[in-house]
Amino acid sequence: MFYTKEGKHRVTAKTFYLTTPIYYPSDKLHIGHAYTTVAADALARFKRHQGYDVMFLTGSDEHGQKIERIAREHGVAPIEYVDKIVAGIKQLWKTLDISYDDFIRTTEERHVKAVQTIFQRLYDHGDIYKAEYAGWYCVPCETFWTERQAGAGHVCPDCGRPVELVKEESYFFRLSKYADRWLKFIEENPDFIQPPSRKNEMVSFVKQGLEDLCVSRTTFDWGIPVPWDPKHVIYVWVDALSNYITALGYASADESKFQRYWPADLHLVGKEIVRFHTIIWPMMLMALDLPLPKKVFGHGWLVLEGGKMSKSKGNVVDPLVLVDKYGVDAVRYFLLREIPFGADGFYSEAALVKRINSDLANDLGNLLYRTLTMLEKYFDGRVPAPGPEEGPDAELKAVAQAAGADAEAAMDRLEISAALEAIWELVKRANKYIDEVAPWTLAREGKSERLATVMYNLAEALRTLAVMLVPYLTHTPGAVWRQLGLAGSPADAGWQAARRWGLLTPGVQTRRGAPLFPRIETVKAEKEERKQVSTEAAAPAAAEKISIDQFAQVQLKVAEVLAAERVPKSKKLIRLEIALGGERRQILAGIGRSYTPEELVGKKIVVVANLKPAKLMGYESNGMLLAASIPGEGEEESISVLTVDRDIASGARIR
Ligand code: ME8
Ligand code: MG
Repeated sequence: MFYTKEGKHRVTAKTFYLTTPIYYPSDKLHIGHAYTTVAADALARFKRHQGYDVMFLTGSDEHGQKIERIAREHGVAPIEYVDKIVAGIKQLWKTLDISYDDFIRTTEERHVKAVQTIFQRLYDHGDIYKAEYAGWYCVPCETFWTERQAGAGHVCPDCGRPVELVKEESYFFRLSKYADRWLKFIEENPDFIQPPSRKNEMVSFVKQGLEDLCVSRTTFDWGIPVPWDPKHVIYVWVDALSNYITALGYASADESKFQRYWPADLHLVGKEIVRFHTIIWPMMLMALDLPLPKKVFGHGWLVLEGGKMSKSKGNVVDPLVLVDKYGVDAVRYFLLREIPFGADGFYSEAALVKRINSDLANDLGNLLYRTLTMLEKYFDGRVPAPGPEEGPDAELKAVAQAAGADAEAAMDRLEISAALEAIWELVKRANKYIDEVAPWTLAREGKSERLATVMYNLAEALRTLAVMLVPYLTHTPGAVWRQLGLAGSPADAGWQAARRWGLLTPGVQTRRGAPLFPRIETVKAEKEERKQVSTEAAAPAAAEKISIDQFAQVQLKVAEVLAAERVPKSKKLIRLEIALGGERRQILAGIGRSYTPEELVGKKIVVVANLKPAKLMGYESNGMLLAASIPGEGEEESISVLTVDRDIASGARIR
């Protein structure tokens, strides 16, 4: 649905408009930056696969005091500085196979002109006025803060770096005027801000009271001049946020793309810029009388031990080096699969190698290799015609159907890692199928009709997998397709081709190639560190004191909650995904009457790490969370989860 100039709206062919943030030109783009864009790319490819007319936008955010200063440090003009770096950003996106439809630079004339028109319209509408600004400014974040927000230490509440005192004549945007309308909008559109925990944060921010936003600066030049008062440059966030409509030709001679794609279906952003995207941007759009985007999703951070990856901390990981070493599909797979989308997650090269070896080499790569090798051996590489269904055939087909349905549903909820998990259910089931039906035995016993059915089913499972993997991996689906001997490409086949079993035509000549993902040898020998816990040690009688050795048998550790959800049909149980150093685990906790899953995510909790696994309502719990409780009846029971009072890395031992 879109709005025409006449203000009518009509239904069109399915369109999908998806944006990433536009990036600050940084001379060291790291794997954290790649995270947003790879995720957006998977969503864009998925929608195209489903037949949507997709507009996928990214770009670069080139103005502002920060860039002006860095350029000066380098002794070059700002435009010279950004030109070079933007070329590097584009190169990175090319290396990672980012399929953007448009790349907008805020220094382009199409953007500059439209931003000036937008500013003029806001002014004409009575939403911009001139006054004196006196307050604090964080240059790295390009954010204004009040005296109260900056606090006694005068640091940025977001990044903790020192803020600078700013006192100048400025234009202001009447944010305060839109607060009530915004609150009403959020109430009527509860899914606008995702995940829900970020919504609650934004609502309380607005309810605290908004001050009008300073939207121009006079003490530096690197920005878009205010059309009627050019000694002012437009605040970089007003400039930057506008990219989502200027790229569509808003306020230009040709607004056809704007009419086709706006409002955006999804703005995908990192969690630290959710506030700009869900408060300032919607209020600008309200003032412009434009429809608001349908959804803003704030994803978590990719962190190394020691905190968020950032250039200033010097703990960055270069994605180009990783792609060179492991290949683009391995890096994409890791970014999309490792972390539940929305939560923070750890990056480590060891975790990447583990994913490559287990999921890609062992599970997927082997499935293709084994299948094609057997097809060669038993049928000269030709896919045979299947006979009647038997044994585990029906289950294999059912798992294939479920994988497609579950992956689709997960993508609709923006749960990218869950979609890959669903697809891997089929990979694993197909490998298990080989072990169960033992084709080599069928061959030895001369059961060639049954063998034909089995080999057809395996080839067909691989065909559907190739189609399902199109959004996530950019080389592998085509490689599987070619090795199966199929014409065209899995992308051209379209998503629906994954939802139907039996589309593979018998008789195609397969062409086995090199293994998809060679195993990566890890040198590190697993050290047996764990002290054997003596099972003989008798439990001490109730009032008896225990020795320090007995206490040491209980391994208490700090864990970070990465994701949490209620266990279906249970009032009390919450399923938690936790990080324990480099390790990931699932635990269950009966705290659902006192906590919502959202408020648990991100907490550093205390767990018993060496507890024997237990099953609760069908879920395995690997450890136990510690909480204080005062028993009561049902809702009365009051529970408080133990946390640590300083930010310490998960995995830390408690003693
Ligand atoms: O914020 N983990 O640009 P930017 C995950 N110009 N995501 C990360 C990350 C990490 N370690 N580091 C960065 C800006 N990102 C503004 C946006 S939009 C109108 C203007 C993500 O270059 C970050 O969250 O600092 C953001 O989504 C994107 O990279 C660009 O960050
Ligand atoms: Mg940033």
